[in-house]
Amino acid sequence: MLLAFDDVGPGPVVVLIHGFPLDRTMWEAQLTEVGSIYRIIAPDLRGFGETAVPDGVYTVDLMADDVIETLDALNLTDPVVLGGLSMGGYVAMSLVLRYPDRFRALMLMDTRTAGDSEGTARVREDLARAVERSGKPDAVVEAMLPVLFAPAMHTKHPEVVARVRERMLGQSPLALASTLRGLAVRPDRSADLAKIAVPTLVLAGEEDQVIPADETRRLAEVIPGARLVTIPEAGHLAPMENKVAANAAILDFLRSVGD
Ligand code: MLT
Repeated sequence: MLLAFDDVGPGPVVVLIHGFPLDRTMWEAQLTEVGSIYRIIAPDLRGFGETAVPDGVYTVDLMADDVIETLDALNLTDPVVLGGLSMGGYVAMSLVLRYPDRFRALMLMDTRTAGDSEGTARVREDLARAVERSGKPDAVVEAMLPVLFAPAMHTKHPEVVARVRERMLGQSPLALASTLRGLAVRPDRSADLAKIAVPTLVLAGEEDQVIPADETRRLAEVIPGARLVTIPEAGHLAPMENKVAANAAILDFLRSVGD
């Protein structure tokens, strides 16, 4: 399906894919700064933000196929740079492994390759049911908001936390449940990482409480030639929490991969 997206800036194309349960607004700081030099396409994945909310289980590969369909509609068939945070990273790995000709560089942020354990899959199903029962996103917000940021963010930048909370509360309950079920059945891509043949940046928020920085950092050990940057004073939403350090790492990497 076609996705809603932001399309800003001049220059080489960089596609940025948001995490769960957010939408493309999480890239605001990148759209402003990185988008002054590069053309950033930031889609809302199926069900999120301004994209339509279909029925069914939203698997990672289905979300990835939507991105391809959207790039096709924009006639962006030459290889582009791709980045994704957390769930966006799962989608980015699906894309780069399944459509290797479409991407020339990769940025994986606060993400992992393993699939869900049985316990995690069960927690996701419980959350999906809670959201369906109530018809509201609140159960997801309560479960995730406390761990999305580095602890100090809640006192230092309550306005950022409040903005993210508002976005989370604005998501469709159907989309949240459909995505939780899709994430629970996502494949473990660990064995495929060595096949990634494009320059790769791995970015880890030092205080990530959702995906420990060490788990993200392991990606850089397995992906051939990957560059690793740890972002200080940042948790799971590193590009929002420490935009100065994250943008510097992104721009430095983009410069290194040229046009
Ligand atoms: C995300 O930030 O996209 C999610 O935490 C990913 C997940 O729940 O596995």
